[in-house]
Amino acid sequence: MQIPEYVTNARLRNWVMKMVDLCNPDAVHWCTGTDAEYNHLTAQMVESGTFIRLNPEKRPNSFLARSDPSDVARVEDRTFICSLSKQDAGPTNNWLHPREMKEKLNELFHGCMRGRTMYVIPFSMGPLGSPIAHIGVQLSDSPYVAVSMKIMTRMGREVYDVLGDNRDFVPCMHSVGMPLAPGQKDVPWPCNRETKYIVHFPEERAIWSYGSGYGGNALLGKKCFALRIASALARDEGWLAEHMLILGVEKQPQGEKTYVAAAFPSACGKTNFAMLIPPPALQQDGWKVTTVGDDIAWIKPGDDGKLYAINPEAGMFGVAPGTSEKSNPNAMATIRANTIFTNVALTDDGDVWWEGMTKTPPAHLIDWTGQDWTPHSERKAAHANARFTAPIVQCPSIDPAFDDPRGVPVEAFIFGGRRSTTVPLVYQAFNWNYGVYAAATMGSEMTAAAAGKLGEVRRDPFAMLPFAGYHMGDYFNHWLNFGRQLVNPPRIFCVNWFRRDAQGNFVWHGFGENMRILKWIVERARGRSTSIESPIGWMPRYEDLDWRGLEDFSREQFHDIMSIDRAEWQKELLAHEELFMTLYDRLPKEMLYLRELMVSSLWRSPEHWGDIPAH
Ligand code: OXD
Ligand code: MN
Repeated sequence: MQIPEYVTNARLRNWVMKMVDLCNPDAVHWCTGTDAEYNHLTAQMVESGTFIRLNPEKRPNSFLARSDPSDVARVEDRTFICSLSKQDAGPTNNWLHPREMKEKLNELFHGCMRGRTMYVIPFSMGPLGSPIAHIGVQLSDSPYVAVSMKIMTRMGREVYDVLGDNRDFVPCMHSVGMPLAPGQKDVPWPCNRETKYIVHFPEERAIWSYGSGYGGNALLGKKCFALRIASALARDEGWLAEHMLILGVEKQPQGEKTYVAAAFPSACGKTNFAMLIPPPALQQDGWKVTTVGDDIAWIKPGDDGKLYAINPEAGMFGVAPGTSEKSNPNAMATIRANTIFTNVALTDDGDVWWEGMTKTPPAHLIDWTGQDWTPHSERKAAHANARFTAPIVQCPSIDPAFDDPRGVPVEAFIFGGRRSTTVPLVYQAFNWNYGVYAAATMGSEMTAAAAGKLGEVRRDPFAMLPFAGYHMGDYFNHWLNFGRQLVNPPRIFCVNWFRRDAQGNFVWHGFGENMRILKWIVERARGRSTSIESPIGWMPRYEDLDWRGLEDFSREQFHDIMSIDRAEWQKELLAHEELFMTLYDRLPKEMLYLRELMVSSLWRSPEHWGDIPAH
């Protein structure tokens, strides 16, 4: 094997040679990240049947891939955190001793790339050379992964300049787990239907992924590196790696800009929120939202005592179903060209479609399984976890500081789940510790982003349950400790866009209307807007929100989604206790005291905190 002479990092050279010996690929391709390379690989995949080129007049330079029906989402039950001690991985992660896991992986990877090309994919998570960024190198036998990594990360030859002779990188080993015998015909979406392993070694900072070609299982810069490995790095080094979008709120003509970072579980509308377009009345008043990131934030304290955040990614891997001109016009503009679609439906004129894109579905489609589809079909045309992969700089609302190596200053954190009941539209935690408590006990009804029971409330602390690379109790402690170092910590808010009325209908309009909440949050973070003290935190009254253009949203409706019911919250606090039981060996004692304080506040009158008094 010929290693390019510009790859001077000794550890990298040795590792690639070792992995080539182990996996036996037919060829090795050192990715350079150029457009020519991208065009060559995509054309090759059109030829092999992995990609369908979409109509260039409708969707220039864009492709559709259909995965194997067994390979459609992250596989949490096949995801492992292999720290030396089981306790360090904690009860919410699968664990196996690293020695045992390595034996297994060595067996699985032995000869696993026969008949295929190994791609060497160097990438930076974050702006190249940023003090907040980190470097990874992924080896993969999937050209789909290679081209997706060009969109999702800063991928290419320049990375070797940052890496130099001896800087560290995270080795990310990936195989679809389907070697080809001589003469064996390949399939459009190779994967291993029986065996999948998504493995992290947090002490070694290494990732091994086997058997899947899909999303977070295979694009290892994303969940595996930027969250699971990075969260362990962040704990050791005193920063935060979070499942958060980053957005800027701008107010003209004053020109004031406030950045907030917000955590929501998978498929709860992070992408929509990150590129929100305010309702006309607020736009006319000079309010605007800009986008830094839609999924992951790396946050480090700066010398000035503020927190600075970067988006380690360069692309969006967004959930397609439900995305429309109404729900997210900026996302629709972002994916107009240069986009890879996976598991969406194909229209007769060579474009894409998914449920929720238009009110009336096309009369005929090819669905995500490659079969004919009409509006009378029983199946969905697009898979519920169908995705688009697009460069984030194509987003019309991209923030000018997206590429700033220093990051952007974060003034507020928002946490939100999908809850039909109990949790109000918005409240502000009393202080940092209360905020950590609220984030730690966050619950959300399950969605299609992961295999599991739809609709059930699962506790998803910090929206990090599937992504924390170590014990969740230690993770809470890291947040509490982190707050102790901050002179003026960002304010923490909780939101719930998903509350339903007695008939089961959503009460809140969501999408652009969330600007009204965001405006209150920004004003609160800057110490300007009023609120009242509820049993669980500070809350806006009806008159504290800007209702211009939504005057028909009544005080009663507002009270319906802001109400706090003592009996419901007692149940909620019992559910927190259940979570704490599972984490008891590493649970910070603050959590127990805060829970007691919450119980006692609930006994404040009235029993049903709904009719928030007007002053
Ligand atoms: C994602 C997820 O893909 O959270 O972002 O599942
Ligand atoms: Mn996510």
